[in-house]
Amino acid sequence: MADKSTYILFALLFLFTITATILTAVLLGIVVNRLPSNNATLVEPDLPLSLVNQINIKDLLKHLQQLQVIADRSNGTRAITTIGFNGTLDYITSQLEQNTNLIVQRQYFTVRNYIIRGNPQLQSQINGVTLHHTYITNFTQILYSSRADFDSFVPLVPIPNVGCQDSDWTSVSAENAVALVKRGDCTYPEKSLFAQKYRVKGLLIYNDGTASDRFLPIQNVRNNLNTTIPAFFISYNLGIQLLNGAPNSSVKMNIDVSDADGIGNICADTPTGEKTQTIVVGSHSDGVPAGSGINDNGSGTVGNLILALNLARLFQTSSSSYPTYAYRVRFCWWGAEELGLLGARHHVDQALLTNVTTVGERLQDYLLNLNYDMLAGPNYRFGIHDRATVPSTTPEQALHGTEKITNLFRQWFNEQNLPWSNSSLGGGSDYVPFLAAGLAVGGVNTGAGGIKPASERDQYAAVLGIGNGGLANAAYDPCYHQQCDRITNINPFAYEKVVKAAAHALEYMGRLNNLQEWLYPNGRQINIPLINRNQLYDFRNDPDLI
Ligand SMILES: *[C@@H]1O[C@H](CO)[C@@H](O)[C@H](O)[C@H]1NC(C)=O
Ligand SMILES: *[C@@H]1O[C@H](CO)[C@@H](O)[C@H](O)[C@H]1NC(C)=O
Ligand SMILES: *[C@@H]1O[C@H](CO)[C@@H](O)[C@H](O)[C@H]1NC(C)=O
Ligand SMILES: *[C@@H]1O[C@H](CO)[C@@H](O)[C@H](O)[C@H]1NC(C)=O
Ligand SMILES: *[C@@H]1O[C@H](CO)[C@@H](O)[C@H](O)[C@H]1NC(C)=O
Ligand SMILES: *[C@@H]1O[C@H](CO)[C@@H](O)[C@H](O)[C@H]1NC(C)=O
Ligand SMILES: *[C@@H]1O[C@H](CO)[C@@H](O)[C@H](O)[C@H]1NC(C)=O
Ligand SMILES: *[C@@H]1O[C@H](CO)[C@@H](O)[C@H](O)[C@H]1NC(C)=O
Ligand SMILES: [Zn+2]
Repeated sequence: MADKSTYILFALLFLFTITATILTAVLLGIVVNRLPSNNATLVEPDLPLSLVNQINIKDLLKHLQQLQVIADRSNGTRAITTIGFNGTLDYITSQLEQNTNLIVQRQYFTVRNYIIRGNPQLQSQINGVTLHHTYITNFTQILYSSRADFDSFVPLVPIPNVGCQDSDWTSVSAENAVALVKRGDCTYPEKSLFAQKYRVKGLLIYNDGTASDRFLPIQNVRNNLNTTIPAFFISYNLGIQLLNGAPNSSVKMNIDVSDADGIGNICADTPTGEKTQTIVVGSHSDGVPAGSGINDNGSGTVGNLILALNLARLFQTSSSSYPTYAYRVRFCWWGAEELGLLGARHHVDQALLTNVTTVGERLQDYLLNLNYDMLAGPNYRFGIHDRATVPSTTPEQALHGTEKITNLFRQWFNEQNLPWSNSSLGGGSDYVPFLAAGLAVGGVNTGAGGIKPASERDQYAAVLGIGNGGLANAAYDPCYHQQCDRITNINPFAYEKVVKAAAHALEYMGRLNNLQEWLYPNGRQINIPLINRNQLYDFRNDPDLI
């Protein structure tokens, strides 16, 4: 999942890491051992051939271990632009090509201004005193912002309030100056759009100092993808120094950026099934720069791979009585989810182009999107995406099917005597552009950096047995977006169940004789109005960017 917690308070980093490590050890030692183990559920009666019965934790862990090896060879990361990311794509591709007859395609895209070259510079001059500030420590780049090449100091203009309204900007003259804006109220991309509109030469956003983790500059904050100005995030202290020095503050910004090319999505299609009624099953293939990304989202990446390998095998085995589905299934691994769902957005954007006429490649050929991101959190919950939580801008036609999928998952967990929770469809993962384009979506995840309340622990313990509810007041994934998100950061019991749930949902829908009717009883509009295309990823809905 992409989330604001990509940044870490540096002063507390050391302490935090230790705490997280201890917590993980405790969770693994205590929680995992207390939870029903895989062995307890292995003995199953002879069930008819089903996709669900093909799923087992041994296979899942075998592939996950390979992703850990790939991350270890890449300085412990699988983020885009690293060999860990390319290695992940190559691994998925070779598994599919060697073991299935699925039709594998790669789709490449560019992430603008993503690569930072050399050492970015920020200097300030306040009443004639010049200071050099340190990259990462005192300032960071806001991702996707433009290059800056100042050859002299440029006057700094503080923007009143928090720069979220035209009146804040019209009350001063920031044209050709560097605007200083405080964090808060609206998103960083919105502040940046105002700065662009009022023709600034550069933008500095400073942290607001309202809590202990709101002093240092934040890393990996995102701007609009099409931004035309340079923008830095600076510490609260530096922001206040510049503010107090105004109008005698000026700054010099220098940063060299270039595009990251060749970022890939992979999709693999069943050769059977109606192409104009495609089921899209997705997960993301990248991790964050900070760690191996094994739960996030190696667990989704591998869960999706296991579904693809098993479905292809069932379809292909001639002795098997497993009937192919009437619908094509397209398994996809999106790149750059952690950078703002870029791979999935690119895919939907391409499929919506009016000049795309190839049958099977148009958005109208898709019936739904199932999304699997973070499936194995050590202190898991079974979070079923809940139709009731979609953004208010969601096209009406997506609602009925999304509710059907929500209920399908709830029913499975009920039938298995497993507890479940509601998980938001408000943003933050790769289903967003599909939902915004009017498709029904759904999925399950085991939770990210959020905290498990005591009530949820008790709810789970009531079903799974006393002591099996996990830890209250601790994160679902204590290693979320950190270095310790390694192969040990996995709850095997939860992982197997979630992938089985995913298998059940796919099989259930694949076997319906009229999936389109089931999802869209009132029909569906083929051409989504252009206005909704801008919402494929509406940053104004993204709480992580404020
Ligand atoms: C893992 O991938 C899924 C599917 O793309 C995505 O929805 C989810 O956000 C990812 N999880 C995390 C924690 O990034
Ligand atoms: C790992 O990091 C070191 C030090 O930053 C660097 O020299 C090396 O090239 C990196 N290796 C890979 C595979 O990225
Ligand atoms: C840039 O992106 C923003 C936010 O998505 C959008 O409002 C704006 O119209 C875009 N500008 C251009 C020139 O495409
Ligand atoms: C820059 O960071 C260093 C190290 O944390 C700190 O000592 C210094 O005060 C910071 N400078 C400003 C202007 O905040
Ligand atoms: C700005 O400089 C002027 C002229 O040197 C001086 O009078 C004024 O006090 C300075 N203002 C601040 C806020 O330092
Ligand atoms: C990853 O693969 C892409 C596409 O082939 C290539 O452009 C890029 O240079 C590769 N990156 C690394 C770090 O090997
Ligand atoms: C389709 O349109 C896009 C955007 O207008 C353009 O970049 C692309 O080259 C076109 N593709 C074809 C096959 O004409
Ligand atoms: C999930 O949300 C629905 C409303 O959408 C509510 O009725 C239900 O009680 C919630 N279930 C749980 C387990 O939180
Ligand atoms: Zn993530």
